[in-house]
Amino acid sequence: MMYKVALNFADGKTLFCPVLPNEILLDAALKSGIKIPLDCREGVCATCQGRCESGSYTQDYVDEEALSEQDLAERRILSCQTRVQSDASFYFDFDSSLCNSEGTTEIITTVKEVVHVSAGTAILRTTVEGDTSLNYLPGQYARLQIPGTEHRRSYSFACAPGTQTLEFLVRLLPDGVMSNYLREHCKPGDTIAMEAPLGAFYLRHIDRPIVMMAGGTGLSAFLGMLDQLAEKGGAGFPVHLYYGVRTEQDLCELPRLAAYTRTVEKFEFTPVLSESDGDWQGKCGFITDHLALYEATDMPFDMYICGPPPMVESIKQWHQKSGQTSARIYLEKFTESNT
Ligand code: FES
Repeated sequence: MMYKVALNFADGKTLFCPVLPNEILLDAALKSGIKIPLDCREGVCATCQGRCESGSYTQDYVDEEALSEQDLAERRILSCQTRVQSDASFYFDFDSSLCNSEGTTEIITTVKEVVHVSAGTAILRTTVEGDTSLNYLPGQYARLQIPGTEHRRSYSFACAPGTQTLEFLVRLLPDGVMSNYLREHCKPGDTIAMEAPLGAFYLRHIDRPIVMMAGGTGLSAFLGMLDQLAEKGGAGFPVHLYYGVRTEQDLCELPRLAAYTRTVEKFEFTPVLSESDGDWQGKCGFITDHLALYEATDMPFDMYICGPPPMVESIKQWHQKSGQTSARIYLEKFTESNT
């Protein structure tokens, strides 16, 4: 048996390495060609330190000069003393280039289908060739080469890692390179090259309730996370997704979101329309209009935000004004492309 371990770096790159049960993390990384900076290899110098973001581990000797009690409580680790006990992810506060590795993979995928799921949104499904699957963390994204052009566009994975069919939610623009390709040229069997994994937005170790906030096709990243939580039956804590779009016609994947209420324990979702017609019975306005529950509480929670810049900024401002101090915030702001 091998555990799958993701190593995330400050430059947003993620490297993966298989680790044997009880194997020292540093040794496993070196075997995979990932040269984590090191010095003493005895748990004293702290050169190899990182932080465990998900999964279980034990540590052999950790000198108190290397990591304090507080550091240990915050799941800081010394790679040369860490024995991995499950699939896991670790964060290192330096760039992946220090480890002599490129970090991302360029792969060729084949278009399986394009499905229009709302007025302005399509799901692109592609398959990975051969019997390999692509390594990434739920929430991360890929840069897709648009066939017949020099252009690349970034899309979050809308599926859990480990499958051969990859999914991406794509916002359809009136005149965008990817949008035009999907509308006019895309057909099953086309090949699309993509670079992945990218981004520092991914599901962390879960030890408290989770609040997810999706704006438009920012939902894509959360579908990947929720697919993974569904595989485990839940997070062990409540998960609440707020999903903001302009009109009811912009909502997509509602049956899939409804299915998560059965497959992810304690999951609920709240769609919010900024422009509702008279028939809409649900929440109206902006997501921040419906967060009073999280203002008047010291309950710790993790807040994940993924959407266009104005939405992300408004939630950040709400958070600053709310006086909330117990939330950990992770966010992904789209770089908006109008073409
Ligand atoms: Fe010195 Fe790990 S290399 S503590």
